[in-house]
Amino acid sequence: MATLLARLEAAHPLDRIADALRRAALATAGRGRLGALLHGVGFGHPLHPAVVQFPVGAWMSTAVLDALPGRDTPGSRRAAATLLAAGTAGALPATVTGLADYATLSRQQRRVALVHVAANLTALGCFAASIVARARGDHRRGRALSFAGLGAAGAGAYLGGHLAYAQDAGVSHAAAALPLVPHGWHRIDAVYAIEEGRVFSYTVGATPVVVYRDRDHGTDRFSAFVARCAHRSGPLAEGHMVDVDGEACLQCPWHGSVFRLSDGRAMHGPASSDQTMLRTRVRDGQLEVARP
Ligand code: FES
Repeated sequence: MATLLARLEAAHPLDRIADALRRAALATAGRGRLGALLHGVGFGHPLHPAVVQFPVGAWMSTAVLDALPGRDTPGSRRAAATLLAAGTAGALPATVTGLADYATLSRQQRRVALVHVAANLTALGCFAASIVARARGDHRRGRALSFAGLGAAGAGAYLGGHLAYAQDAGVSHAAAALPLVPHGWHRIDAVYAIEEGRVFSYTVGATPVVVYRDRDHGTDRFSAFVARCAHRSGPLAEGHMVDVDGEACLQCPWHGSVFRLSDGRAMHGPASSDQTMLRTRVRDGQLEVARP
C-alpha cells in the first residue's frame, strides 16, 4: 500500500485533470470570503473532516440496518432508506468544504486528492442508484449498491487520511514548529529596541519568532508567534505588514495567508489554522517569551 501511495503522489499524468479541478475549485467553493469560511478560516482548522462525519455515519448506519436479520420488515426498509437519503444529502456540505480545501493543496497532494474525489464520487453514484433501486422496490439491489458505495467511500476516507497524516494537508505547520522552542522563558530583546507598530524577527532555540508591539487601552502590549506559516511553513519573518479591517496583520510571502499580529488569528487563507502564539512578559526591561 505504501508503494502504491508513493506512486500516486508521483503520478505526473494526473496533473492535467488535477490542475483543472483546482481551477474549478478556485472559481467556485474556494473563492473569496465564502471560500475562506468553507476552508475553515476563522474556525481554527479545516471544516471538511468534521462535516464528513454526518454522511459517513448515516451510510454506515444504513449498512448496519441492511445487514440485520430483520432488514426486510417495512420499518427497517424505511429507516434504511431514510438514513441513506439523509447521508447522500449531507454529502453536499462535505463536497463544498472539500473543494475549498482542494484549492489550497500542493501539486503532490492534489494527485492523491483527485483519487480521493473520484472514490467519493463513485460512492455517491452508488448511493444515488441505491436510493432509486429501493424506491422501485428492488431492495436486494439497493442493498448491494449501498455496500458498494460504502466500500468506495472507505477507499476515499483512507486517501483522505493519507492526505492529512502523511502529506500534512490542512495541518498547522506553526504548531509543528513549537516543540523546537526550548522550555522556560527566553530573553528576546530590550523593550526599548522593539518599536511600536513594526514587526521584529528573532530565533528562539531553532525556531524563528516574530514579535510585535502595540498599545491596548493605553498600555504596551507585546505579541509573539512562531514565524513558520501555518499553511506550509513559509518564512513569515520575510512577510510584509498589511491592514485588514483596521487590524495590523502579517502576510506570508509564499501564498499570501494573512495573520493578525495581536493574536496570530488567520484572517485570510490558504492557511486555516491560526499562528501558534508564545507567552510574553517583561523582566528588567527585557522582553521574554515562552511556550504556551
Ligand atoms: S506557506 Fe502558504 S501561505 Fe504561507
